[in-house]
Amino acid sequence: MPVTLSNATSPISPLSIAIVGMGTVGTGVAKVLLEQSERIARRAGRPIQLRHAVVNDLKKPREIELPPGILTDNVRRVIDDRETQIAIHLVGGIHPAKEIMISLLESGKDVVTANKALLCEHGPELFARARELGRSIAFEAAVAGGIPIIATVSQCMAGNQITSISGILNGTTNFILTEMIQRDQSYAVALRRAQELGYAEADPTMDVDGTDAAQKLVILTQLAFGTKVKLDAFPRRGIDKLDLGDIRYAAELGYTVKLLAVSKLVGNRLEVHVSPTLVKKESPLAQVHGAFNAVALTGDVVGDTWYSGRGAGQLPTASAVLADLIDMAVGRAQLTFERLGLWNIEPQFELLPQAETSCRYYLRFNIEDRPHVLADIADVLGRHDISIASVIQHEAPETASGDSFVPLVIMTHKTTAGHLDAARLELAQLTTLRPPLVELPVAG
Ligand code: HSE
Repeated sequence: MPVTLSNATSPISPLSIAIVGMGTVGTGVAKVLLEQSERIARRAGRPIQLRHAVVNDLKKPREIELPPGILTDNVRRVIDDRETQIAIHLVGGIHPAKEIMISLLESGKDVVTANKALLCEHGPELFARARELGRSIAFEAAVAGGIPIIATVSQCMAGNQITSISGILNGTTNFILTEMIQRDQSYAVALRRAQELGYAEADPTMDVDGTDAAQKLVILTQLAFGTKVKLDAFPRRGIDKLDLGDIRYAAELGYTVKLLAVSKLVGNRLEVHVSPTLVKKESPLAQVHGAFNAVALTGDVVGDTWYSGRGAGQLPTASAVLADLIDMAVGRAQLTFERLGLWNIEPQFELLPQAETSCRYYLRFNIEDRPHVLADIADVLGRHDISIASVIQHEAPETASGDSFVPLVIMTHKTTAGHLDAARLELAQLTTLRPPLVELPVAG
């Protein structure tokens, strides 16, 4: 039996909705809808009627008790229900999430979703289908969970040309990095702790290899710069190969390491990347600890702005879903969807070729500790126009044979990735160096 989530005796007909996917976030949305029905109804301008909650397994114990008759394991009940006007689509992955979303749209429902992977891969196609059908899609929850960054980029900054987005968009990796930095633990130990505490999935690949942050960056880049970048069109590195030694050297140099997702205008071209990055210890991004997310946005009118909060989890993500639901109820989400025109984006900016991107670099070499090695490295870097800003080499214990390999850390001044690529080829010829050569960009 559908239930109207407000006690208000209102002449206004309720808004009928369904939740498709009752995992952590779906449960959070239902919980707030049930517990705060008056508040949501007031802000939506009408009571919300939850008609269906679609689950995979009807027998699974639930955190909340739903009114009878709502729970179903058959998504067709939603698709075939003409009364349901808005579907909250909380199905993860690509298939069958895509087919379910298309069926929901085709059956006349507007859709609120949190699925960033789906929008990253098939966004324009899904937006086009919605538009053809006279429907809308809202997706605040797809990026940075509880931080209202989609509304900020697409509505609040509408009078600006955004010139730079720089963000910590993955809470799992920020938690792991915080553990490594604050507890001086290896990546493997910090990952295990993140899994024990429920921050990291049993299979954490998409988080730790940078894919999750990159998918969110694709969505933000499309909104901010009108440019649909493909996930594999820009460099993406995660934290899974990060060595604790580099975090310690970074600290010695006055930096911390963050997994940064960056999309910024360089002239009239766009630089996009995801990488573990050295950020100055006193910078705001360095103060974002644990599973939090943060985004620094710069607009040509407003200047620098800053947003932080919980980027995942039951209630933070539910908060974003509910904002979209209310926006849909009052008709604002439909207007925004129409104005953004995401189904047919004319690329406004081209990608800057990777070789032309420029920044300062942290380099760690593994060198044989004997005469002229430092001079050889400096010579190669110098011939490729790479200027050295600082150097760390700690004294190593003498070995009986006299041939020991030691770490050498060099911070460079600003240079291009192209110069570094060329230098790397030459450095590989030096017999006094042993892999790995660690390269990390430095922010700012
Ligand atoms: N797994 C993501 C994170 C949250 O750790 O931030 C969902 O995108």
